[in-house]
Amino acid sequence: MTEQSYSEKVMDHFLHPRNAGEIPDASGIGNVGNVICGDVMRMYIKVDNGIIVDAKFKTFGCGAAISTSSMVTEMVKGKTVKEALEVSNKAVAEALGGLPAVKMHCSVLAEQALKAAISDYYKRQGKDVDKGSNSQ
Ligand code: FES
Repeated sequence: MTEQSYSEKVMDHFLHPRNAGEIPDASGIGNVGNVICGDVMRMYIKVDNGIIVDAKFKTFGCGAAISTSSMVTEMVKGKTVKEALEVSNKAVAEALGGLPAVKMHCSVLAEQALKAAISDYYKRQGKDVDKGSNSQ
């Protein structure tokens, strides 16, 4: 995999990740990992009145994993929790100007991390969760 395979936007989010870090008083935290590549992602969301007012991530993984984490946190800020559940890995990849086929699983990890954080949020609210489907 060469750098040239990545779009400018992917490289930009990889080199200058948005929302890297953690939210100490997060409303929900999601931890996911890919057993094949070993990359792991942790996503934090802060919810106020049903709106995601902040999102942050910690990713130990490849460039595409970092870029998709960065992009997904940007995409969900300001959305309702329900709207955020609709954010698919494909939408994240498209927002980044596309990903090489072998890197699509990295965007799946970002979608899963978001859904895990939302699931944790619902659980803390005492609500049942539909985690949604893996839509690679
Ligand atoms: Fe595993 Fe990118 S190579 S998330």
